[in-house]
Parts: sequence; C-alpha cells; structure tokens
Amino acid sequence: MEWIADDDVQSEKQHLALISQGVAFVAEGQGHGIVGFLNGEVTPDALHIWQMAVHHQQQGRGIGRHLIEAAQQHAVSTGIHALTLTTFRDVAWNEPYYQRLGHRTLGCESLDPPRCSSTV
Ligand SMILES: CC(C)(COP(=O)(O)OP(=O)(O)OC[C@H]1O[C@@H](n2cnc3c(N)ncnc32)[C@H](O)[C@@H]1OP(=O)(O)O)[C@@H](O)C(=O)NCCC(=O)NCCS
Repeated sequence: MEWIADDDVQSEKQHLALISQGVAFVAEGQGHGIVGFLNGEVTPDALHIWQMAVHHQQQGRGIGRHLIEAAQQHAVSTGIHALTLTTFRDVAWNEPYYQRLGHRTLGCESLDPPRCSSTV
C-alpha cells in the first residue's frame, strides 16, 4: 500500500474549487474540530464523490457512513439520481464497505472507457 501512502492528497486549490463549485461536507467531533470530510462534483448524471477521509483516531465510528449519507441526502434533495465513486478492488474491505452503504459495482459496459477499472 506504499503507493497510496505516497500519493498526493487533494491540494488546497482542489478543496476550494469543490467547496465553491461542487459539494463538500465536513464532520466535526466534539472538542476535536474537523475530523473528516467528503467532497465531490455534480456531473450531468450523478453526484461523483472525489474524496472522503476520516482522521485515523476517529475511524470506525460511523463518521464515514454519515458523510456518505449526507451526500445521498443532498443528491436526493437536489434531484440527482445517482451517487458514484471509485475505490480499490485490491483493498479487501473497500468494495464491500461501499456496497453495504448501498452502492453497486458497475461493469465496464456501463462506464466511459477511461473510467473502466475498479469502479463502484
Ligand atoms: C474509508 C474511511 C473514509 C471510512 O471512514 P470511517 O469513519 O472509518 O467509516 P465508518 O466508521 O462508517 O465505517 C468503517 C467501515 O470501514 C471498514 N474499515 C475501515 N478501515 C478499515 C481497515 N483499515 N481495515 C478493515 N476495515 C476497515 C470497517 O470494516 C467498517 O465497516 P462496517 O462498519 O460496515 O463493518 C476512513 O476509514 C479513512 O479515511 N480511511 C483512510 C483513507 C482510506 O483508506 N480511504 C479509502 C477510500 S476508497
């Protein structure tokens, strides 16, 4: 998993662009400040989640699930019919986690060619 650990995080510029033009939700922990975020972009056919992360000391407490639910509620309330994201097939818990939250894995035939790998 070194390549993920070494991967760049979203830049401040990317965060600001999604806050102003896309969607961004934060989770605030009592006395801990912001402990997680989810951001994404509204595409012609979906709200696409670009990134979600929860502070490592706060993981496993349902914060990620609540962030996804906030994105789902936003999509429903603004008439967006789909919530999409991509994840890693080779991280054992990733795909099942998003499936438990209501996502289904799309096959290549339903994706644009550039997005045709490891997509939920
Ligand atoms: C992925 C992430 C945003 C989820 O946020 P969270 O607040 O921990 O999520 P929740 O508490 O709602 O759910 C945790 C679920 O993920 C699974 N999970 C999270 N991290 C895990 C790990 N390291 N190993 C195994 N399972 C893990 C748990 O099984 C749990 O599933 P369940 O509650 O349905 O049984 C958060 O763990 C994170 O920031 N991880 C580091 C970044 C990362 O791995 N991102 C991958 C994005 S595809």
